[in-house]
Amino acid sequence: MLDTFDLVLFGGTGDLSTRKLIPALYRQETVLSLNDDSQIIGVGTKDLTDDDYIKVIENSLEQFYPAFNREDDSWKRFSKRVRYNKLDINSDEDWTNFVKTKTDRVTVFYLAIPPSLYKLISKKLKEHQLITKNSRIVVEKPIGTDQKTAKDINKHLSSGFNEDQIYRIDHYLGKEAVQNLLALRFANTIFEQSWSNSAIDHIQISVAEDLGVEDRGGYYDKTGALKDMVQNHLLQILCLIAMEPPVSISSESVRDEKLKVLKSLANFNETSIVTDSVRATYSEGLSKGEAACSYQDEEGVDIDNRTETFVALKVMINNWRWSGVPFYLRTGKRMKSKTSEITVKYKNVPHNIFSENSKVPSNQLVLRIHPDEGIDLKLNTKEPGVTGFDLEELPLDLNLDDYYEIGHQDCYERLLLDVIKGNPALFVRKDEVDASWQWIDNIINLWESQDVPMEEYNSGTWGPVNSDLLLKRDFRTWKNGSKK
Ligand code: BG6
Repeated sequence: MLDTFDLVLFGGTGDLSTRKLIPALYRQETVLSLNDDSQIIGVGTKDLTDDDYIKVIENSLEQFYPAFNREDDSWKRFSKRVRYNKLDINSDEDWTNFVKTKTDRVTVFYLAIPPSLYKLISKKLKEHQLITKNSRIVVEKPIGTDQKTAKDINKHLSSGFNEDQIYRIDHYLGKEAVQNLLALRFANTIFEQSWSNSAIDHIQISVAEDLGVEDRGGYYDKTGALKDMVQNHLLQILCLIAMEPPVSISSESVRDEKLKVLKSLANFNETSIVTDSVRATYSEGLSKGEAACSYQDEEGVDIDNRTETFVALKVMINNWRWSGVPFYLRTGKRMKSKTSEITVKYKNVPHNIFSENSKVPSNQLVLRIHPDEGIDLKLNTKEPGVTGFDLEELPLDLNLDDYYEIGHQDCYERLLLDVIKGNPALFVRKDEVDASWQWIDNIINLWESQDVPMEEYNSGTWGPVNSDLLLKRDFRTWKNGSKK
């Protein structure tokens, strides 16, 4: 059972709280891990009573928690721990009346609100002396819009909280398949011995989404795929794939090693930005069999803005282990299917002992994040037969769903529990945020100064032609989705 905590949810009636955070906490209620004294305090600008807020929570569970039944004891217990606090963050009177009294209990301030408010809230929490040594603050990405604004937000957070009290969420780090990268690499000697330029030809990290920008056109248009996905999720995955073995699984060891990777990323220059990066937006097309509009026609999108919904990059890492091994990163909206995976392509055998006609495909290790979380290693085997020696590529396919019921858990559940327990390992440290923005800012500046073209791709495809050419030029191809 968890220690007693107060979870203060700023943005308590918003999307993130109702879709993700409340259902995640409720699942913990159903497995009896919340002690009776723990409280959930929704904070928002709406004028609601506790009972109104309990109703909001009940509705959200009905919608987003399939097994919800209001007759269950779990709901009876859960509804008792829920309270609501109306707060206009600009009103000092509201802050003074803030019902959350300062206690020594673990208190988690979860900012499920637009990042533009992070600075103000952390300032007010400090001013009103609501921070104790047992307080924690949780912030979602994006932390800033570039290195400068990120530094500024971090500075404000740090003025009230110590670094070990600040939890910067990258929800990809809460995904089982992403954490499994650590297990795969550091609990299996067979991989680690060949995890370098001595055996690996290249690595692909592809996070494709089939949805468009949906109702987030306004936010997305000011952000774009590079800042929305690469700066955080893709770089975090890259770090876990490329980092040196940490001394232990403790948060500081892992984060120290991730930081070294970020600092070793080769910067793009005037030439490589043109040859090794692709940016594009989706045009009309067919998405899952239905006609889909272009990005320019999405609500909230300004047609004069040049905001990318797709990015592909060829990234090099300047260190001994990875020298000469390209990491191809790709992410986009409205692509053919929602597929996130990492493909490790090994080198060809140095000499083919089989007949001239028999090709020996290079080994391929695929780490699937979505769908069908799992690991698939392609091996060459002999095709059965009494004559000749023909080779066939067959999979060693581990589907995690065959062993665990991970479908019920959401990455937010793991992350919330870690905050409550005070374990920051799966959260991003200030210096990681800083280093990743520095690398991203350089790309954005070069895109503008070198006028890198904004290409187009049809909705429902794997991206623009130049993304394929990025690999073709190196005699390689993207692995596009399918399990085989
Ligand atoms: C978010 C991005 O961080 O990640 C969204 O802001 C994106 O644009 C989402 O759709 C993808 O997350 P997941 O877990 O659905 O792959």
